[in-house]
Amino acid sequence: MDLGRGPALRPPLGRRPGPRRSRIIYLLVAGSGPHTEDELAYLEQKMRADWDRRARENARFYVATGRQQWTDEEFFASGEEEVRNHILTDMTNICRGKDPRRMAVLEIGCGAGRVTRALAKIFGTVYAVDISGEMVRQARRALAGYPNVRVEQNNGRDLRVLGKIRVDFAFSSIVFQHIPSKAIIEGYVREVHRLLRYGCLFKFQVQGDASIERTEDDTWLGVPFTDEEAVDMALRCGFDPRYRHGAGTQYFWLWYFKGWKPWRQSRYCWRRFSQYARMRWETSRRSS
Ligand SMILES: C[S@@+](CC[C@H](N)C(=O)[O-])C[C@H]1O[C@@H](n2cnc3c(N)ncnc32)[C@H](O)[C@@H]1O
Repeated sequence: MDLGRGPALRPPLGRRPGPRRSRIIYLLVAGSGPHTEDELAYLEQKMRADWDRRARENARFYVATGRQQWTDEEFFASGEEEVRNHILTDMTNICRGKDPRRMAVLEIGCGAGRVTRALAKIFGTVYAVDISGEMVRQARRALAGYPNVRVEQNNGRDLRVLGKIRVDFAFSSIVFQHIPSKAIIEGYVREVHRLLRYGCLFKFQVQGDASIERTEDDTWLGVPFTDEEAVDMALRCGFDPRYRHGAGTQYFWLWYFKGWKPWRQSRYCWRRFSQYARMRWETSRRSS
């Protein structure tokens, strides 16, 4: 199934927002990051506007470009297939001995709920975010019968909308391949690191084909990563980039594991031990 590669599938971009357009495009230097706050705000607004327009036009086509028209059955079956290929074949890394029904998982860029629905049948709790309000509306409708799913519209850059949650696995497929900025993608990686439990996996796909022709603010053809850049990003964000597959292609898959921090662990244990010892001492003093 072709999930949207190449200029032939590229939809016409709508009106670009704001009078500052040319200055900002000028400022978007090759390499797509780092950006100033102004540039990031511009990209955020453009990603949302473009994806809302695509969702209103034909959400299912822009989610999975294999067909112009999808029946419900076909569309959700394609999500099941995605989960079979990338989740069910990889449960050792994903669950690490845990029962999936007791796991909380996060999906970034859930679109119309195609993959989310399949995830909800496997995992105990599913948190899903998407930048497009229209996609979120369609996802919520598709997931109405799944009380273990929470879908939120986020700002396209961080996961603050989810509040104080912890997840045991995070996943994102055919989303980062559309994001035009490395700074935004790295921001997401840091955000996942914040919410993920120690030792757990963030499995996601980025664009790995550096030969694509794109403009700096293209929200269809996102910014590509080399293998070296993917490793550097993981290390900067505190992840172990344990496995990588498909470098140089559109489907460049990354397995980022959040490592254990032994010094933090031992500091935590020491604090708990001293609290416990103090409590015991005070109890014995009071009773004597
Ligand atoms: C090609 S669709 C894939 C949807 C879903 N992952 C699937 O496979 O069915 C890409 C989705 O990513 C969302 N998206 C694009 N940029 C995003 C961003 N910066 N933050 C969150 N979602 C984003 C779009 O709104 C769209 O729903």
